[in-house]
Amino acid sequence: MNRTFWKEAVVYQIYPRSFQDSNGDGIGDLRGIISRLDYLQELGVDVVWLSPVYKSPNDDNGYDISDYEDIMDEFGTLGDWEELLNGLHTRGIKLMMDLVINHSSDEHAWFLESRSSKDSPYRDYYIWRPAGPDGEMPNNWSSIFSGPAWELDEKTGEYFLHLFSRKQPDLNWENPKLRDALYKMMAFWLDKGVDGLRMDVINMISKVEGLPSAHQEGLAPGELAGGGEYYMNGPRVHEYLQEMNRKVLAKYDVMTVGETPGATVEDAILYTAEDRQELQMVFQFEHMDVDSGPGGKWNVAPWTLTKLRDILHKWQVGLAEQGWNSLYLNNHDQPRMVSRFGDDGEYRVISAKMLATLLHTLKGTPYIYQGEEIGMTNVKFSRLEDYKDIEIHNMYREKVTEGGGDHDTILNAIHSKGRDNARTPMQWDSSANAGFTEGTPWLKLNPRYEEINVEQALADPDSIFYYYQKLIRLRKEHPIMVYGDYELLLPEHENIYAYTRTLEGERWLILLNFCETPQTVELLDELNAVTETIISNYPEEQAAMDRGTLRPYEARVCRLGS
Ligand code: NOJ
Repeated sequence: MNRTFWKEAVVYQIYPRSFQDSNGDGIGDLRGIISRLDYLQELGVDVVWLSPVYKSPNDDNGYDISDYEDIMDEFGTLGDWEELLNGLHTRGIKLMMDLVINHSSDEHAWFLESRSSKDSPYRDYYIWRPAGPDGEMPNNWSSIFSGPAWELDEKTGEYFLHLFSRKQPDLNWENPKLRDALYKMMAFWLDKGVDGLRMDVINMISKVEGLPSAHQEGLAPGELAGGGEYYMNGPRVHEYLQEMNRKVLAKYDVMTVGETPGATVEDAILYTAEDRQELQMVFQFEHMDVDSGPGGKWNVAPWTLTKLRDILHKWQVGLAEQGWNSLYLNNHDQPRMVSRFGDDGEYRVISAKMLATLLHTLKGTPYIYQGEEIGMTNVKFSRLEDYKDIEIHNMYREKVTEGGGDHDTILNAIHSKGRDNARTPMQWDSSANAGFTEGTPWLKLNPRYEEINVEQALADPDSIFYYYQKLIRLRKEHPIMVYGDYELLLPEHENIYAYTRTLEGERWLILLNFCETPQTVELLDELNAVTETIISNYPEEQAAMDRGTLRPYEARVCRLGS
């Protein structure tokens, strides 16, 4: 397996709206990020992935772009962006930009042109279809943000496709002119020195010809269905990505990760096998569905370690020889990992460190989401209006306001799964608004900021922050953490995830207890072979006392002798 920078890197994701405000308008901005670069350097990360900062009416917080080559007013100017890039580079940190090219904003000049007339040269930049004989929609697909995926445009009397909100029309990748315009825009940023691209829902860019209606058991006439099978990992997606490589990516030294909901291991190999020249890695979603019941994420179901481990294990084995894994337990679309997979009460610090150990010792490239490194937790706002996310509001309207569903059940689901869990402002200190802003924050803070914040973490040598710092440093010192082969132990255990990593005669044992009761580790040979504890979330002396027992949420990484 080739050794490369992007396999060895640790990435830190910034959601700019919620990171640091510098001008008191309550919205995070580029100058705010610039003021926090020393913090990122101290953590030790190699790459910053910046969620979108381009011009946007913010229907979906920047994932609806109205000008790909300029910066959102609230975030600053291109000059600020250049300064941010330089500031990162001076500190040896690379910059990965978010590339949102499955759709644009409906306020993008291309769409304004496109909707102006059926004869516009930009008409085919988007996906337009005539209404059916009785005015019905072209097919029965639902939008990922609830409601139909089609919007009727009065001006020309046709529908346009939007897999996300109605202000996010899908771009028509069948059109080579559109593709070339996007490649040109990518070169604009790469020429400025951008080091990486995270490609938003990139596996949705190719739709099945004819856009057929989805078939689903028991569907009433006129009822909506998902339709994902007709646009996820579609027929031409690999052709497009290979073309993108030939025309743009191959000319630069650039790190790439594709966001690919619904991708299987087999799909991921096609996207990331090195000889195929598409992407370096993808974000898979299977482990993010581990607590979803039938009908999707809002039907919250209990997760088990067995289920979670089976998924992660399948991906470890599946991409062992070809392709490469990205590793993440949360991001701006997911609840906070410590609330979801650990314990955000008594064992918050210990369990956050345990999950951090998993993230840095599986094989793949770890992605840390802002605030994860201080153990930020989910929020439970009691008023719906305190939530700002379009996905939450659309879903609530569909299920409760229009669908007659139970308010409390849905509010509970929002507490567990809502994206705003991840988007509450970064908690820097215990002062008003946690040092995030001097104005009124765009989204309320998590009330726990007085207890959980960066200032507190930096002052405590046992903090989650320093544990991340150590894990990141260890990855640099020990190639086994990056390149070592992975092998699962105790495959049936209900509470322990145990595995080894092996490289060139060196062997490490990783033991993770996922629950709040002590667990016996039935691995006599391995435990007897332990020569050294490399890192643990409990003090060393205690770990040595009873090697055969893992305390609540204990994580231990040990070197094994032969
Ligand atoms: C995935 C992004 O991560 C999410 O935040 C966004 O809403 C959708 N794609 C649409 O761009």
